[in-house]
Amino acid sequence: MTTFTIEKTDAPTAPERRAELLANPSFGRVFTDHMAIIRYNEADGWHDAKVTARRPLSIDPASTVLHYGQEIFEGMKAYRGEDGHIASFRPQANAARFAASAQRMGMAVLPENLFLQAVDELVKIDQDWVPSGEGQSLYLRPFMISNEVFLGVKPATEYLFIVIACPVGAYFGSGCVSVWVSENYTRAAIGGTGEAKCGGNYAGSLVAQAESKAQGCDQVLFLDARERRFVEEMGGMNVMFVRNDGKIVTPPLGGTILRGITRDSLIKLAAAEGVEVVEEQIEIDELFEGAASGKYVEAFACGTAAVLSPIGSLRRPAGEAKFGDGTTPGPVSLRLKKVLTDLQGGRTNDAFNWVH
Ligand code: COI
Repeated sequence: MTTFTIEKTDAPTAPERRAELLANPSFGRVFTDHMAIIRYNEADGWHDAKVTARRPLSIDPASTVLHYGQEIFEGMKAYRGEDGHIASFRPQANAARFAASAQRMGMAVLPENLFLQAVDELVKIDQDWVPSGEGQSLYLRPFMISNEVFLGVKPATEYLFIVIACPVGAYFGSGCVSVWVSENYTRAAIGGTGEAKCGGNYAGSLVAQAESKAQGCDQVLFLDARERRFVEEMGGMNVMFVRNDGKIVTPPLGGTILRGITRDSLIKLAAAEGVEVVEEQIEIDELFEGAASGKYVEAFACGTAAVLSPIGSLRRPAGEAKFGDGTTPGPVSLRLKKVLTDLQGGRTNDAFNWVH
């Protein structure tokens, strides 16, 4: 175990103000009082681990992250159970994915136990910030930036690993999400960084997300970069479809799609519920036709932030595909969401040993 220096903030949020903020947290705008931080350089390795007051960073304007974008992050959550205890969900999976992302981006790899300890230390000190309302949790955002001061293009030799946290409610509003199929932009090509959870993937998605918003939709769906024919993933989450044969279908992982931990959890939980999830390519034209003919009956987004968010409709320049009536979440989506959130909230038996 690494010893973290604990420097408690001398300006904690007043309990009444915190209660106000926790009453109705929107996604990603309110933050807890502290952050965990660990530094890396070649001479000392990972060092100077601490939990300290959350405050702006001071970095040199020539820090490599500001120029070449060596940045990775994770999204994970801590939940308050009915008996008040706090648990996180599959944190080891986040630690492992973070290490894989670091490797892909040529960054120093943080030992997984240090990642887990940093998250635990932050949750412990900011435990009063874990909300208890339905659908609420403490969203944890571990991330790493390169901060070597150098303008040459090469993997940096200095990094900052930080964990911040914010109390959150639903990522999307209530009801069903509407999705715009991007025909102008793609997200990731074979051999690229699509599988890494790096900021650049999200930066590249934003213009398509803006296009989706201009079309009156909530999210963007990307097609494969080679043929623009097969469904890949959305701007910030994976996607699944329910067929009328009772099976769920989702695009296979192949290097261009994020290895979603919620995606993986749902595949395993669905199987335990007797619902098979088929990982196979989904042709966009066939999906639109199948939604019209009744072959595809439900669709949903899945991710840490999105949890499981039912999709009501897909739109593209050539038309619209509705799932069900386009506004009412379907029974398979609702059932799986309950199975997942009951487990995360500690309300059911943890058969997979995922709750920490
Ligand atoms: C997450 O689900 O944790 C993400 O990182 C996606 C982002 C849309 C918040």
